[in-house]
Amino acid sequence: MTDWAVVPKTELHLHIEGAAPPDFIRMLAAEKNVDLSGIFKDDGSYVWKDFAEFLRTYEAACSVLQTPDDFRRLTEAVLDVSAAHGVVYTEMFLSPDFCGGGDLEAWKDYLAAMTVGAKNGKAKHGIETRFISTCIRHFGPEKAEQTAKITAATAGGLLTGFGMGGEERHLQASDFGKAFAIAGDAGLALTSHAGEICGADSVRETLDSLKVTRIGHGVRAIEDADLVARLAEEQIVLEVCPGSNISLDVFAKWSDHPIAKLRDAGVPVTVSTDDPPYFYTDMTREYCKLHETFGWDLADFQATNRTAMNGAFCDDTTRKRVMAKFE
Ligand code: ADE
Ligand code: ZN
Repeated sequence: MTDWAVVPKTELHLHIEGAAPPDFIRMLAAEKNVDLSGIFKDDGSYVWKDFAEFLRTYEAACSVLQTPDDFRRLTEAVLDVSAAHGVVYTEMFLSPDFCGGGDLEAWKDYLAAMTVGAKNGKAKHGIETRFISTCIRHFGPEKAEQTAKITAATAGGLLTGFGMGGEERHLQASDFGKAFAIAGDAGLALTSHAGEICGADSVRETLDSLKVTRIGHGVRAIEDADLVARLAEEQIVLEVCPGSNISLDVFAKWSDHPIAKLRDAGVPVTVSTDDPPYFYTDMTREYCKLHETFGWDLADFQATNRTAMNGAFCDDTTRKRVMAKFE
């Protein structure tokens, strides 16, 4: 029987704050004398019942991440978990809104601290990290443009991408066109959440107005055959997070998840965890479930990992070096 934990993996869609182990957030809350008891269940896990409450709990947990060194420690804690599940290359979403509130000089300090965390993770585990700075959709277009500007000003090194998360039902993708143009002009690679909470139209609008090469989730594209054909034709990489989708009830059960259908239609699909402790998952569990549900075996995962590296926001030397680990 395959030990899925040790299979080498690429993960493209992981929110650094959403990956914070509950124990880590409780430890910071104790250090800072903040009462966060309301966001934890008796068993210690995060409280939420739907997407809106998930976002509220997430932001409350972020309130104890207050200094660059908190984020360095968080980066290292997250990489420890990723490495334990066989991840050899990871892209983490960072949120300048939680790292200095949009101030460029403060953001530089946070980014430097997370870069130290990533370098320490590499020295300890050999894991390669790249960062994708994200704006938060429900904070609105002005904040998004400010985030894009400070991201553009600090592009380079491990910071290679720009993206958008948050409440997908808020405004239209085109309202964020200026932010994505600022980031794209600075040479950053682009991705955005779409087709997770909202339907296929949200994916189409995102492709048309934000010029992304990847979509975070995108799984509800399955509702529209023409769109599926377009994703395959344009080779738009989907950062699919099946366990997250099941947990948030986007699909009722694993066998309803469209990842296999999308792949069979020629869409480049990849596998990630999104916010693992919130969704009671990890990369090992994602691989186990895909194996159990769709019969995916080592060759299938080798292919999704190659797809992920082809869509990864890194230089070609790194891409080739990591790719060799899947042979
Ligand atoms: N931010 C963190 N996780 C997210 C998700 N699954 N969708 C949208 N925004 C997020
Ligand atoms: Zn996400």
